Formats: sequence, structure tokens, C-alpha cells
Amino acid sequence: MTTTTAEQASETWCPAHRVPESRHRTYSLASHAHRTQRPSALQLRPEWHVPLFSLRRWADELEDYPIPGETTVYDETEQIDLDTIPLNGGLLAKVLVLSVDPYLRGRMRSPEKKSYNLPFTLGEPIVGYGIAVVLRSETEEVKPGQYVQGPIVPFQEYAVFPSLTSLVIVDKHPQLPLSVYIGAAGMPGQTAYAGWKEHSEVKPGEVVFVSTGAGPVGSFVIQLAKAAGAKVIASAGSEEKVAFIKSLGADFAFNYKTTDTKEVLAKEGPIDIYWDNVGGEILDAAIDAAAVNARFIVRVLVRLSVARLRGITPARPPSRRVLSLSLSCPIFMSSSKQNLAQVVAKTLHIHGILVFRLFHKYAKDFYAEVPAKLVSGEIKYTEEITKGLDKAGHVILAVQKGENKAKAVVLVAEE
Ligand SMILES: NC(=O)c1ccc[n+]([C@@H]2O[C@H](COP(=O)([O-])OP(=O)(O)OC[C@H]3O[C@@H](n4cnc5c(N)ncnc54)[C@H](OP(=O)(O)O)[C@@H]3O)[C@@H](O)[C@H]2O)c1
Repeated sequence: MTTTTAEQASETWCPAHRVPESRHRTYSLASHAHRTQRPSALQLRPEWHVPLFSLRRWADELEDYPIPGETTVYDETEQIDLDTIPLNGGLLAKVLVLSVDPYLRGRMRSPEKKSYNLPFTLGEPIVGYGIAVVLRSETEEVKPGQYVQGPIVPFQEYAVFPSLTSLVIVDKHPQLPLSVYIGAAGMPGQTAYAGWKEHSEVKPGEVVFVSTGAGPVGSFVIQLAKAAGAKVIASAGSEEKVAFIKSLGADFAFNYKTTDTKEVLAKEGPIDIYWDNVGGEILDAAIDAAAVNARFIVRVLVRLSVARLRGITPARPPSRRVLSLSLSCPIFMSSSKQNLAQVVAKTLHIHGILVFRLFHKYAKDFYAEVPAKLVSGEIKYTEEITKGLDKAGHVILAVQKGENKAKAVVLVAEE
């Protein structure tokens, strides 16, 4: 299913190869400096090309959700000359699609807060996974017309990259849309594939539980687990998402907002593998329902621990999801000794994963297998495509609130 939210669709994005009068649009974090005197957006900061990944932190460290027009700003004032802007041995590319991922929130933190990645710089474009087509190149490694992708693509219509460092050339399957290369064939799919292959040790008939099962990562994991002959339990935050999970073949899908996770796992478990996308009380429930020697593949346990250790109180606007997480922090703390005891008593295997540290081991297999299966439909995926860079702030906010129904993509421009 490829969906485009009608009310979010915009016809203002530039379909042309060149923007009239070299007008250049950017999307950046707001700052007073930004509003008055903006640095050149195309002088890309070197650290964008050398991401320092270590540990993830709570997005709750932000005071509030990123509000479009306040926290994030769409700006059309930047001007460049696409014909003459110096490349200094690099390349100029036109940005086509951008991936809106949950982790972007963590990079919207103030610089004194350390994490595995660099914080964004106020007044400069947000940077994330995206795909761009090369317009000019002064490096023999890439030619005009080729697509490049990576985690350093700025939320801009055009970008100069000093080299191919941190970028790869997209070997696009003719029957797949480009956007898939930032979704099921991109970072989220790679996370699912590599994490599953590395840590699941799945055997036919084992019971697998996947939280956030309708997202690009969770939905991929569900299909890997089913293909391996496992029984799959999966949760999501709406009936529509639950229906999608069922269409993937999950044996039991439920809405965690209306159904008690502990009760489900007590009935459908014990579980041999838990793919954790959320932490909190759902992780607690999974530990309670774990079989001896169960494997846990997690990404947010550390975030909870850090938040707790630093005494950070989640500051999300009230919603059912937020309330459950807010409550789960103290619960997690007070029950952490008990959880740890269960880790020992059940000899659980807890694996934290970061895709950039793992994927290289599986890249060859991934590209040999996954694009073809996406084309054939053997692996299903969904996308929610929003047209227009000016809508990026709304998409970022929607993903943070869990309102996205599928892989969130911003279509910046057609070729
Ligand atoms: N470690 C790594 O290398 C790595 C790589 C990729 C992704 N990840 C992580 O994997 C998870 C899934 O990624 P994805 O791209 O597949 O995300 P996604 O499903 O497209 O979007 C995030 C989803 O998380 C759920 N959610 C859980 N807690 C939430 C909360 N407190 N507030 C709002 N939404 C909440 C929502 O779904 P429901 O309606 O079902 O609650 C929301 O739609 C994310 O946590 C992401 O950061 C980690």
C-alpha cells in the first residue's frame, strides 16, 4: 500500500531540474540566529559526513514535541546558483526523497547532551536518510544521473556533498520506486534483516513477539519470523495497524492501547524471541512472559535506563501512549531488580542493536534477496508519502506522535 495523505499533499514543490532564480528551500531547526542571518546552507559541516554513532538517548529530553513553524522551520530564502556553486571535488545533487524516522527527535537536542549521534545545529538543515540524484560531479566515483543515498542527506532541495563519504550509489531495481530504498530496502529494512539474522536464532515453531508491528522495522521482522516458521504475536497502536499486521500473516495481532499486553502474552506465550521497538511496560510484559533462553532484540532499553538514571521525567503531551510510557519509567525502575532477576533466572539473551554497526555483515545477502522479494510481493511494505519539503515538519511531528500509518516519506521532488 502506498498512501499519500491528501490534505498534506502540496503542489508547491519544484518539479523542475532547476529552481527559478536558483531559489533554494531548506527545512531547519529554528533559532533566532536563523531568522535574522542564516549561514550558507550548502557549506556542509564536516561532521555530517562523519556521524559519531554510539548510544541512543531519550527524545523526552526535549521539552516538547517538535512543532512545525516553531521547533522546525521551512525557509525559502536561501539562494544558490546550480551551475556555478563550487564543488571542490565533490558533487551537487537534487534531493528527491527523505526518510522521516523516529531517531531524528534524538538529534534535536542541545549540544551539551551527549549521544551516539551528533545533535543538529540550530539554523542549519536537518539531516537524515534520503536519496538524491547527482546533477554535477567532480569525482570519478559518481556520475550525473546516478542516485546517491545515505544518512547525511539534508532536508534541502539541493545539496553539495564534498565526497561520497557516508553515501552509497543506489543500484535501483527498475520495478521498485526510489522511496523503498529509504524504507524496506533501506535503513529500516536493514535493521530488521540484520538484527534478526544476527540474534534471533529462530527455530520453527518458536513464539515471537514484535511490538510496533506495523512500522517499517516491525512489519519486516514479522515477515522474517513467519518465513522461518515461527508463531508471531504482534502489537500496534490502532485497529488499522492491527489489520495490516494480520495481512502480513501474524498469528495474533492486537491493539496494545485497548488490550492488555500481559494478558495476551500469558495466553499466547511463553515467548522465545521478543523484538522490542518500544521498551517500557511492554518490555516488562515480555520479560514476564519469556521462556527460558529467550532472545530479546532491543533498541530502547538503554534509553529508559538513561532516562531513569538521570531522573528525567518524560514530558510528552498527554495521550494514552504517552501516559503508558510515563508510568512505565518508574515501574521499570522499581521493577528493574525483578526484571534483572528474571534475566538471570530465565537465562535471557538481551541484544541491543544499532544498524550501522551490524548491517555490513549482511549487506551482500540483503541486496541479493530483499529487492527481488519486494518486487515479487513476497515481502510486503507500506509507505505514507507526503509531497513537499514544506510538509516535513508535520511528518516529523506525526511520527513522534505515532500517527504515521506506514513508513513516513517526504517526496521533495520528482526527477
Ligand atoms: N537501533 C537501530 O539501529 C534502529 C534502526 C531503525 C529503527 N530503530 C527504532 O525502531 C523503532 C521502530 O522504527 P520504525 O522506523 O519502524 O518506526 P515507525 O513504526 O514508523 O514509527 C514509530 C512508531 O512507534 C510507535 N510508538 C511507540 N512508542 C511511541 C511513543 N511513545 N510515541 C509515539 N509513537 C510510539 C508508534 O506505533 P504504534 O501506533 O504501534 O504505537 C509509531 O508509529 C523506533 O523506535 C526506531 O527508533 C532503531
